[in-house]
Amino acid sequence: MCGIIGITGDGEAVEILLEGLARLEYRGYDSAGLVLGSPDGLWRARAATGTRSLGDLRKQAEGAPGACAGVAHTRWATHGHPTEHNAHPHLDCSGAVAVVHNGIVENGQELRRRLAAAGHRLASDTDSEVLAHLVEEELAAAGAGDPGGDTPGGAAIGAGGGVTTGGEAIGAGSPGGVTTGGAAGGAAAGSVLAGALRRALAQVRGSYAVVVQWAGDPERLVAARRVSPLVLGLSAGGAALVASDVPALLGRAERFWVLDDDQGAELVPGAVSCFGTAGEPVAPRALAVTWDLEQAQKGGFADFMSKEIAEQPQAVADTFLGRLRADGTAGLDEVRIGEDALRAVDKVAVVACGSSYHAGLVAKLAIEHWARLPVEVDIASEFRYRDPVLDERTLVVGISQSGETVDTLQAVRHGRGLGARTLVICNVVDSSMAREADGVLYTRAGPEIGVAATKTHLAQLAALDVLALHLAQVRGALGGPDAGRLLAALGRVPDLVAEAVARAGAVLEVADRLRSARDVFFLGRHVGYPVALEGALKLKEISYVRAEAYPAGELKHGPIALIEPGAAVVAVATRTPLWEKLMANVEEVRSRGATVVLVANDGDDETASLADAVLWVPPTEPLLAPMVDVVPLQQLAYGVARAKGLDVDRPRNLAKTVTVE
Ligand code: F6R
Repeated sequence: MCGIIGITGDGEAVEILLEGLARLEYRGYDSAGLVLGSPDGLWRARAATGTRSLGDLRKQAEGAPGACAGVAHTRWATHGHPTEHNAHPHLDCSGAVAVVHNGIVENGQELRRRLAAAGHRLASDTDSEVLAHLVEEELAAAGAGDPGGDTPGGAAIGAGGGVTTGGEAIGAGSPGGVTTGGAAGGAAAGSVLAGALRRALAQVRGSYAVVVQWAGDPERLVAARRVSPLVLGLSAGGAALVASDVPALLGRAERFWVLDDDQGAELVPGAVSCFGTAGEPVAPRALAVTWDLEQAQKGGFADFMSKEIAEQPQAVADTFLGRLRADGTAGLDEVRIGEDALRAVDKVAVVACGSSYHAGLVAKLAIEHWARLPVEVDIASEFRYRDPVLDERTLVVGISQSGETVDTLQAVRHGRGLGARTLVICNVVDSSMAREADGVLYTRAGPEIGVAATKTHLAQLAALDVLALHLAQVRGALGGPDAGRLLAALGRVPDLVAEAVARAGAVLEVADRLRSARDVFFLGRHVGYPVALEGALKLKEISYVRAEAYPAGELKHGPIALIEPGAAVVAVATRTPLWEKLMANVEEVRSRGATVVLVANDGDDETASLADAVLWVPPTEPLLAPMVDVVPLQQLAYGVARAKGLDVDRPRNLAKTVTVE
C-alpha cells in the first residue's frame, strides 16, 4: 500500500505534491520521491530514510526547477529493499518516462527478464520499474520515443480549456467556472502517452494504480488503475489532480471523481478525461467529499481499526497474488530457500507472539495435515529457554507483523545459531527479522496503524496457507486434485472475508449485549481454538474485559467451575472438525446458565438453536475457516470497546511493536 499524488496546472506543484505525500504517509513511509516536468525535461528527487524520507525529500526539493506538473510517491515496500534506488518515481532508460505505482506486478520478474534481454537497463529491484520501460517501448513503437520530437501526443492543450484527446472531458472552462465537457474525440482516441500506457498495462498481471509523466508532453499525466485505488480532482483554478486517496487532495481539489477498475485518465491543465481498456471514453464516477483531513485519512471510518478490518479482503488477496499459480501450485519464488532444502526438512518450529502466535497455531494444523511434517509452535519469549532440539533439518518459521518483536527475533537467531534454516513471515520489508532470516515471505497488508493486529493477522494466515501448501507439494504429500481444490478454495477466501466484514452491523448489536460483561469465555476446538484465542486477545486488549480462551474439551477439567448464570461464552461453532464435540461443550455451559454467543455458518439452524446470539459467517474449507471466522470476533471486540467509549486504536499500556524482552 503506497501513496501516489500527481498534479498538473498549478505553479505550486512542488508544494502540493509534498503536502499530499505528508497526508498519505499512513499508506507507507519507507521512501518518498517526486518528478517534475518542464519543457527542459524531467527533474527527479528521492529519499529513502524511513520516517525521515519526506523531510529529506523536502530539502532536496528546495533546489527544484519551477514546474506546474509532477508526480510523487510515498512507498511501503513489497518488492525490493526500501532504498533510494528502489524509491519511486521510476524512470525508463532515457529518463523521459516517469512512473509512480501502487500495487503488485505479478509477472514482474518475467517482464524484467524480457526487458533486460531486449537491452533495457533496469535500475531498481522493484516490480514497478518495468512499467516505465514498457511505456518507453510502446512510445517508441508509436513513433514517439524521442521527447525532443514534434508535439508528441498530438493533442492540443489549450490554456485552461478543454482537451481534445478523446474520453469524456470534465473541464474547468475557465478558472472559477466549472463546466462538464462532452465526449471529445472518438473511441480509442487519446494521447500517444495514454495509448502507450494502455498497451503497456495489457502486458501486466496484478494490481496497479499508476501515474505516468513523459518529458515529451510534460504537462500531461496519464493514470490507470486495477484493484489499487485512484481518485481524481479539479481545483477551482483549473489544476487537475490524481491521488491514491482523498486526503492528498483535500483543500486543493474542489470536485472529485473515482476511477473505477480498468479505467484510465488523462490529466492536463484544466481538464481530466477518462477512458476504458480499449481507450473508449468513459464517464468517471463523481465523489461527494465531506470529510475533514483526519476523517479522510481513516477513509471515512471512525478509526483505523475499523478501516483495517474493512481492508482485510484486500490484504488476503494481495498476499495470495502471484503465489497461487494457474498451474495449481503454490509458489514461493521469493523465499530464497530452495526446494531441495525444503524437502530435507524433518520438523518445523514456529515462533511468534500474540496474534502472530495464534496464526502459528493454525499453521501447525495446516502443515501437519497437508505436508505431513511435524510442527512445534512456541511463544517466542519461551522458546530459547526450553533448550529446543533443533538442527539443520529443522525449519524455524518466525511470524511477526513488524519483523522487530525482540522475542521473536531472538528466537529466530537462536534457531539459526543451532544450524536450522530460518524463514520469516512478516509485513515490513527489510525489518530486522527479514534481513537476518534465510528466507522471507512477506504479507502484503500495508501499514497497520491500529495497535491491535487485524488485517496483518489475516494476511499471516493467508501467507502460512501458501507456505503449508508449498511444503506439501514440494514433498509430494498432496495429490494434484486435492491441491487444486484447496487452491480454488483459497482463491475464494477474499470474497468470503468481505462477506463476513460486511456483517459488522449485526455483530455490533451483539457487542452491545456484552458491554457490561465482567468475564467472557471463548471456546473452540481444532482450528476454532486459535480463533477463540485471537477473539479473547482482541477483547481484552481493546475493551479491557477479562477474556480467556479454552480448547472446549478442556473445560470440564477445571474452567467450568467458573460458569454460573450470567457468564458470557463465545464459541467458534462453524462446521469444522469436532463440531459435534464442541456443541456438547456448549450444551454444558448453557445448562449452567451461561449466555451463549456462537459463530456459526450461514443457514446452520441446528447450531443457532443453542445460541442466545449468533455471529453468522459464510462456510469454507475447515483449515481456511480461521480467516473468515475470526472477523466477527474482531468486530465484537471493537463493538464492546466502542460501546465503552474506549480508544480502539491506542489501547492503554500497549505498543504496536515490542522491542524489549
Ligand atoms: C495483538 C497484537 C500483538 C502482536 C504481538 C506480536 O493484537 O497486535 O499481540 O501480535 O505483539 O507482534 P509482531 O507480529 O509484530 O511480532
